[in-house]
Amino acid sequence: MTKLEQLKQWVMQSDNIVFFGGAGVSCESGIPDFRSEDGLYRQQYRYPPETILSHRFYLHHPEEFFTFYRNKMLYLDAKPNPAHQKLAQWEKEGKLKAVITQNIDGLHQAAGSKEVLELHGSVHRNYCGKCGKEYPASYIRDSQGIPRCSCGGRIKPDVVLYEESLDEDVIARSVMRIQEAQMLIIGGTSLAVYPAAGLIRFYQGNRLVVINRDPTPQDDRADLVIHGKIGEILGQL
Ligand code: APR
Repeated sequence: MTKLEQLKQWVMQSDNIVFFGGAGVSCESGIPDFRSEDGLYRQQYRYPPETILSHRFYLHHPEEFFTFYRNKMLYLDAKPNPAHQKLAQWEKEGKLKAVITQNIDGLHQAAGSKEVLELHGSVHRNYCGKCGKEYPASYIRDSQGIPRCSCGGRIKPDVVLYEESLDEDVIARSVMRIQEAQMLIIGGTSLAVYPAAGLIRFYQGNRLVVINRDPTPQDDRADLVIHGKIGEILGQL
C-alpha cells in the first residue's frame, strides 16, 4: 500500500480528524511562508521581519510596522487551494471536526470550513484601540500610515505579534480538539514556533500524519509522513 493509499484509508475510516496547519498550506494560494528559502523571514529589510512583527516594534515604530504589514502580510486576493477545499469537504462529510491554524489569511473559512481555530488571529479582524469598532482588512490595505478609526483611535489588526500572548479560549478549544482526535493531520508547518507547536503533544491517538514539503520535528513520532506539496497531495484524495 502506498503512503497516499494509507492516508486515504485512514481518512475513510475516521470520523474525528483534526488538522493542524501553518503557512505551507497557503503557499499554493500564492502566499509565501516564513522560513523556506523564499520565505518572508529570508528577505532583507532594515530590521529582521520577526522584529518588525513584534509588539514592541508595533508600539515604537507604528508607521514602519504598517508599511511592512500592508506589503507583506495582506494577500486579500489569494484564493483557497485544494488543501483548504478538501479539509472543508471532510468537515461537511462529518469526518473532520476542526482546523487549527497558525495562519491569519482566512482561507480555510473562505473554502467553507466552519470550525477554524486561529491560534495567531486573523487579518480580517481589526479593532480600534479606543472605541473597539471593527474594520475589514480592506480598510487597513487602503489606508495610509497608521490606520485611524472615525473616533481618532489607532486600529490594530487582530493578529498575535511576537511578545503577545495567544487567546486562552482558542488554546483551550484547540487542546480539547487534539485530545479527542482519532486522527491528527499536521500540514504545511515547520513546528518552529511555540506555544502553537507545543499543542501537538496533547494528541493521544495512533494516527498522527505529517504532510509537509520539508522534514519536521514530529516526523519521527508520526505514524505516516508524506513529504510534498499539501495542495497536490490532498487534491488527490
Ligand atoms: N506544501 C506542504 N508544505 C509546504 C508547502 C507546500 N506547498 N510550502 C511550504 N511548506 C512547508 C515548508 O517546508 C515549511 O516546513 O511549510 C512549512 C512552513 O513553515 P514556516 O514558514 O515556519 O511557517 P509556520 O510553520 O506556519 O510558522 C509558524 O511563525 O512567524 C510565525 O506567526 C508566524 O504563524 C507563523 C509561525
